[in-house]
Amino acid sequence: MSQASGWAAYYEKLRDRPPRRTLLAALDAFGETPADALAVDLGCGDGRDVVEILRRGWSVVAVDAEPEALRQLAARGLPGTITPIAGRMEDVPLPIGVQLVNSSFAMPLCEPEKFHALWERIREALPPGGRFSGQWYGPRDSWVGRPGMTFLTRDEAMALLDGFDIEMFEEEEADGVTPRGNSKHWHIFHIVVRKR
Ligand SMILES: C[S@@+](CC[C@H](N)C(=O)[O-])C[C@H]1O[C@@H](n2cnc3c(N)ncnc32)[C@H](O)[C@@H]1O
Repeated sequence: MSQASGWAAYYEKLRDRPPRRTLLAALDAFGETPADALAVDLGCGDGRDVVEILRRGWSVVAVDAEPEALRQLAARGLPGTITPIAGRMEDVPLPIGVQLVNSSFAMPLCEPEKFHALWERIREALPPGGRFSGQWYGPRDSWVGRPGMTFLTRDEAMALLDGFDIEMFEEEEADGVTPRGNSKHWHIFHIVVRKR
């Protein structure tokens, strides 16, 4: 199975799932939708979180490396302002004025060096009061060792979050099954932070 058809099966499987709770917590934490509310969703897939970002009145730049993800996002016919960008999050410039960077289960799919550079760009792009929501993976995740992926210890993750107020930092470790049906030990940090 090619990687692209693998992602197509993933989108199909998760199509009707609700938005991620990290995203919901970040949107709730803003309270009223800010003026000119602009979010970026890095590794947006077919739009599980984009649906909710738009529903709350935000505009969204939706980034995914897989054109199939953006095709399926477009096919949803969602009302609101979406700017789709097909590209790798490591390479895509972050828009001026972004107040929320969301990346659900996608940032660990960057190699470590690019992950750190991307995180610095996210930190710089967000204004004081801006938020990041998403997941990073820990060192006991069973995908450790896969090339091109980033895993962080709790201490490393906390160090990267220096300069942010932590609104959610939940560590999850559990045996489970991936959406594609493979056994997996998950070690996940669920993160919502606000730039000081
Ligand atoms: C596990 S899925 C998560 C999708 C969605 N965010 C969600 O929560 O359901 C990861 C997504 O990230 C995309 N992706 C993987 N590596 C990427 C990269 N370097 N840049 C942009 N998108 C990437 C994949 O194509 C896929 O759609």
